[in-house]
Amino acid sequence: MSHHLTILVGSVLGAAEYVADALSAVAKDAGYQVDIQLTPDFETVTADSTWLICTSTHGAGELPDNIQPFAAQLKTQDLSGVHAYVVGLGDSSYDTFCYAAQTMEKVLSDQQATLICEPLYIDVLNHPIPEEKAVEWFSQQLAKK
Ligand SMILES: Cc1cc2nc3c(=O)[nH]c(=O)nc-3n(C[C@H](O)[C@H](O)[C@H](O)COP(=O)(O)O)c2cc1C
Repeated sequence: MSHHLTILVGSVLGAAEYVADALSAVAKDAGYQVDIQLTPDFETVTADSTWLICTSTHGAGELPDNIQPFAAQLKTQDLSGVHAYVVGLGDSSYDTFCYAAQTMEKVLSDQQATLICEPLYIDVLNHPIPEEKAVEWFSQQLAKK
């Protein structure tokens, strides 16, 4: 697995950005070089980088505006060399809980990317500090490598 990680953020209000920052610190401690993209753009993702998509859900199950162009870009790509983690933030009082993360998972798998493990869905109702849950999970994932 590559020791470069690109964190691709989908966020409206900033919570997913905080999670991305915390996950970046975990990855750096584990020896990764990390880029965080707050305006994700396929053209600028480092070749051979592992991906971590970290996105909230807005509207009625929609992707945040800032990650929509990236999702559209991916639909024309062959991602068969890509290995990705997916972290979703959502609120379980919506029946579209974490739909944006699920949308990104579907795009990745439709384009032949490999999901490294089951996605993490963080329910902000249960986790008022979502980065705590994310850090615990990601530390465990990286320890498996
Ligand atoms: C207007 C609005 C719509 C939302 N819609 C959903 C939704 O459909 N599904 C879901 O799981 N969470 C939904 N949420 C919850 C957000 O995903 C959650 O608050 C998240 O922490 C926001 O992250 P962000 O600050 O990175 O945008 C919604 C929140 C707002 C304010």
